[in-house]
Amino acid sequence: MNKTKNTLFSNKPVTIDNNSLIMAIESSCDETACAIVKGGREVLANVVASQIKIHEEYGGVIPEIAAREHLEAINVVIAEAFKQAGVTGNDISAFAGTVGPGLVGCLLVGLNAAKSLALAYDKPFIGVNHLNAHLAANFIDTELKPPFIALLVSGGHTQIIKVDSYSEMNIIGETIDDAVGEAYDKVARLIGLPYPGGPKLDKLAQEGNPHAFKLPEAKVGGYDFSFSGLKTAVLRLVKSFDGKEMPVNDICASFQECVSSTLLKKVKRALEETGYKQVVLAGGVAANSEIRRKIFNLKDEGYEVYAPIMKYCTDNASMVAASAFFFDNTFDSIDVEVFSRASRA
Ligand code: KG4
Ligand code: ZN
Repeated sequence: MNKTKNTLFSNKPVTIDNNSLIMAIESSCDETACAIVKGGREVLANVVASQIKIHEEYGGVIPEIAAREHLEAINVVIAEAFKQAGVTGNDISAFAGTVGPGLVGCLLVGLNAAKSLALAYDKPFIGVNHLNAHLAANFIDTELKPPFIALLVSGGHTQIIKVDSYSEMNIIGETIDDAVGEAYDKVARLIGLPYPGGPKLDKLAQEGNPHAFKLPEAKVGGYDFSFSGLKTAVLRLVKSFDGKEMPVNDICASFQECVSSTLLKKVKRALEETGYKQVVLAGGVAANSEIRRKIFNLKDEGYEVYAPIMKYCTDNASMVAASAFFFDNTFDSIDVEVFSRASRA
């Protein structure tokens, strides 16, 4: 990877190669994060300040509170990242920041910090798409190269993406209603688990019987998904206990089985129909034990399987730096704006 970019201030060309350090900032939702990554793959610093404790009280993320918390944390995470990596701003080749999709007030905090650093140190600025960044988490500490099929499962998105090269990717399937993480969080709330319910539901599911309840798998065409019917089915199941003691672990396990087998089925079909031999799991829900297990089982069928280690599955800035290196080389103006919803090709 060898690219030349211009600095923001003096328009000086800077070449980004395998020895270059990129500092990235992520603030799209409820994590304020800063990282320094060498050559898109080697993490020198990875700092994450999570707001989960604050949002737990409200049962979800309150955008205004989240934005204020980002403001409190941003300078601290940047200083800590420089300290962890043992470098200064002069050693950084480019500064990157998430531009979207995400909460606008939150994105603005990280993006403006990244732009300011780029201006102050007279280095290029790279705006990064948060979804690309989740995929790019798979470049960290690996030798992964396209082409591959990616399953992106997060709080806001569920997509199957055909990644042909670093510059060419197409969404070939996505959810027509709830995202997987959203379904996890909603079902978790139904059974009384605190926010964020996904990881807690996953834990309980591991203690339950995945075949205790037969839950409906939505019939959606192509590589698309639908999870809202499943959520309603769980609601009906929960209500059927009518105050009697609920087999919570079995409900969690049955829900998890339904979701993970649906995802696996479509990913397998995408692999078979494209002939691609590599599959990549990404997004916060890639931390899920059963989804990981099922996708990793594809190794037995001869596929190369990649999934980030846990800390790079949920929101972090190392993945943003990796994406700035491999995927996102189009935005580099100071005028780049944040955006709230996904709108990529
Ligand atoms: O990617 P992410 O950190 O934020 C978005 O970009 O959306 O994903 C957060 C989502 C939440 O819905 C959370 O409940 C879910 O990922 N999640 C999980 C697990 N760990 C995180 N869902 C199921 N099982 C898990 N182990
Ligand atoms: Zn995310």
